[in-house]
Amino acid sequence: MEKIRVKGGSTLEGEVEISSAKNSVLPIIVACILCGDKNIIKEAPLLEDVYVICDVLKELNASVEINEVKRELTIDTKNLIPNSANSELIKKMRASFLIMGPMLTKFGHAKLSHPGGCNIGTRPIDLHLKGFKALGADISIGHGFVEAKASKLIGNRIYLDFPSVGATENIMMAAVYAKGTTIIENAAEEPEIWDLANFLNSMGAKIYGAGQGKITIDGVDELRPVVYRPIYDRIEAGTFMVAAAITKSKIKINGVNEEHLRPIIEKLKECGVSIDIVENEKMIVDGRGILKPVDIKTLPYPGFPTDMQAQMMSLLTLIKGSSIISETVFENRFMHVQELIRMGASIKIDGRTAIIEGVDRLTGAEVKATDLRAGAAMILAGLAADGYTDISDIYHIDRGYVNIEEKLRKLGANIERINI
Ligand code: EPZ
Repeated sequence: MEKIRVKGGSTLEGEVEISSAKNSVLPIIVACILCGDKNIIKEAPLLEDVYVICDVLKELNASVEINEVKRELTIDTKNLIPNSANSELIKKMRASFLIMGPMLTKFGHAKLSHPGGCNIGTRPIDLHLKGFKALGADISIGHGFVEAKASKLIGNRIYLDFPSVGATENIMMAAVYAKGTTIIENAAEEPEIWDLANFLNSMGAKIYGAGQGKITIDGVDELRPVVYRPIYDRIEAGTFMVAAAITKSKIKINGVNEEHLRPIIEKLKECGVSIDIVENEKMIVDGRGILKPVDIKTLPYPGFPTDMQAQMMSLLTLIKGSSIISETVFENRFMHVQELIRMGASIKIDGRTAIIEGVDRLTGAEVKATDLRAGAAMILAGLAADGYTDISDIYHIDRGYVNIEEKLRKLGANIERINI
């Protein structure tokens, strides 16, 4: 079985390059369905999830060339065949459900496997379907499939009960070819929403207000192909910022957007980490000072990101005093707690709240990656623990991080991928 082995105690130094954002690239690849021509995505992060979403498009008869040297995707959707995509692939990765909006608005029909939940929560799709219905689609659910039909979508006003990232993206893409104007209220404001809208607008869509709570989409008739470079991955950057803090190191992170990282920067500064933005899109993070406990509440952007909750918890287990983390976005995103306790952490869970008492040291152990970000959190804990930490189920990690162990090794970490 493949594992990642970390030997704790190394100090990190030097520079790390951040890749493009996974949670931008996935919807952007899907949005290529809307433009029946050849789009090129540059600096694509070659992650497991990117390969899966490309396979989904290939299922629909798109041609996808992946140039691994140039990290460039060429996606040609000239000959798309609207059929129901492979349910195994849809189940494998929830983001595949994002093809429903583009397929519905382009072909008037989409039938996909119900994405189901995953281990961080039930991951419902009711808000996606509420949006499609508001645009005039007939929706049916049965035998594990979701089917949507509409001869022509008609613009409408849609209020999202929760600022769901996926629902905002799916509805926004569906509205691109709808007749008239669509307004999405209480829309998600994550930077990846802005990036998707920016990509669509560069192809000729008319989307206004993306990245704010209210998005207006004026329907158009066609889009033209473009070459596009997505934004940097703020969660990967945040993960390396915590790596500097938990190993009491000073490192340089190249590929950052200060505004996108604002909630993470502010929280780490409150902890006592020093952070300076230097040159253009670069950051110096210095975690060598005395750090103090903090309280965190995860919230939709611009609040503290749920995708950084596990990584911050690893850091807080080693900061003297009591810290409190409230996870308000997902109902079951504390599975890393048991794994951290195996390493000697002192954490109590009360519903969606975790109380962390800082301990003097963590000890290396055999642990599991219970989801993508929990896997990153275990690597971070291993960097600071005494001895060896062997992390299994690392396929979770490969879904969202490009060569994380190589990037950490270049910074001086004692980390390798082993087969045992
Ligand atoms: C996106 O997932 C991200 N994934 C997640 O990142 C991220 O954690 C999440 O947004 C929140 O920021 C991608 O972008 C591919 P949501 P998504 O819809 O779109 C509820 C990672 O680690 N909800 O904003 O699925 C839902 O139950 C991954 O990179 C409804 O109630 O997230 C959840 O509690 C993990 N009804 C909350 O919204 C719906 O129809 C947030 O979900 C949809 C969602």
